[in-house]
Amino acid sequence: MKFSRRLDRLPDEIFASLNSRKIEMEQEGRKIYNLSIGTPDFPVPEHIRQALIEAAKDPENWKYALRDTDELLEAVCGYYERRFQVKIEPEQVTSCAGSQEGMGHLGLALCDEGDTILLPGPCYPAFIACANIALACPYFYPMPKENGFLPDLAAIPDEVADRAKFMIVSLPSNPMGSVGNDAFYQELIAFAKRHDVLIIHDNAYSDIIFDGCIGKSFLSYEGAMEVGAEFFSLSKSFNVTGARLSFLIGRKDVVQAFYKVRSQYDFGMFLPLQKAAAAALNGPIDTVLRQKEIYQKRRDALCGGFRSIGWDIPDSHGSMFVWARIPSWYESSMQFCMDLMEQSGVICTPGASFGPMGEGYVRFALVLSEQEIQKVVAAVDACGILKEKKHEQE
Ligand SMILES: Cc1ncc(COP(=O)(O)O)c(C=O)c1O
Repeated sequence: MKFSRRLDRLPDEIFASLNSRKIEMEQEGRKIYNLSIGTPDFPVPEHIRQALIEAAKDPENWKYALRDTDELLEAVCGYYERRFQVKIEPEQVTSCAGSQEGMGHLGLALCDEGDTILLPGPCYPAFIACANIALACPYFYPMPKENGFLPDLAAIPDEVADRAKFMIVSLPSNPMGSVGNDAFYQELIAFAKRHDVLIIHDNAYSDIIFDGCIGKSFLSYEGAMEVGAEFFSLSKSFNVTGARLSFLIGRKDVVQAFYKVRSQYDFGMFLPLQKAAAAALNGPIDTVLRQKEIYQKRRDALCGGFRSIGWDIPDSHGSMFVWARIPSWYESSMQFCMDLMEQSGVICTPGASFGPMGEGYVRFALVLSEQEIQKVVAAVDACGILKEKKHEQE
């Protein structure tokens, strides 16, 4: 039987060899520093856990939820107003089981086969999956180093922008750690209006932003609500990645189209999870603010540490990632990752896994303590992988 053409467009597991070698090394008792996956190592705030546990005790809460509760929708609206100074109505919000799932289904709601979607190059792989599942055509717009790893809108040909159905923008950026500024978002909204292209902003890292900057919502900019919508995830701010607590928020017709697709197969978010999400949104955010400071110290330890051993990488300004160019004598980011893991025990992610424009770089996730990161830097230095001479001798 010939399965769907969709499957042909989905990539194979490119990490398989990296993962199997990692498992072997662990079995050999080698010290491993795993900076490959962006899973926060901070605890879930107690009040969020307690809300889930209490709600799970009530058998009524184990029935189909069917919809987002008023309590949850009001919590999202209240949070957006307090945190981002954005006024939204409950009809402009709908939940999803993680932005990653949401991205997949948004493509189905917005696109027909062959439609063009503008994606950041490089980008979070779920954006590519969104295009592939919808059988749409991704067009990767550049985010060059010279532009501070921000989208270069001028580099998108007019005819491409005119035919694009929507454009995904996600800042702070995974994998590059760049952060949007007011001028960029104003330019983006003007671009969206000029080309009649919808903007889908993914705001996964609004709370992990460094050097005194405060993460904003795309929807806080004038005109944004007319041209787009935003994914808002609790995963990284509240360390609840496994609970899949995310929302699409913004222009009503986009939110409704997305809801229509999702409601065909989804009976709503498990009610105890809705209670937990409301507790997160209504509760204190002191842990969120503290974490941001800790991520920044880790950023300093990793970027500053690598620079001190001769690896010239820029500071990331937000997200939980650092984007590093591989040494010039390496042609493949996968090969560099394999060698780095073998020689130092440090695991990072090959840039090639973030789409065609990611090659030549690797990504480190700031998921170990500052002290462990100092050991990472020492291990990378000691193994000599950054020294061209050593490489030539091999
Ligand atoms: C840019 C970006 N968006 C979304 C997500 C995932 O969010 P969620 O846990 O809500 O699926 C991630 C996780 O790594 C991410 O990097």
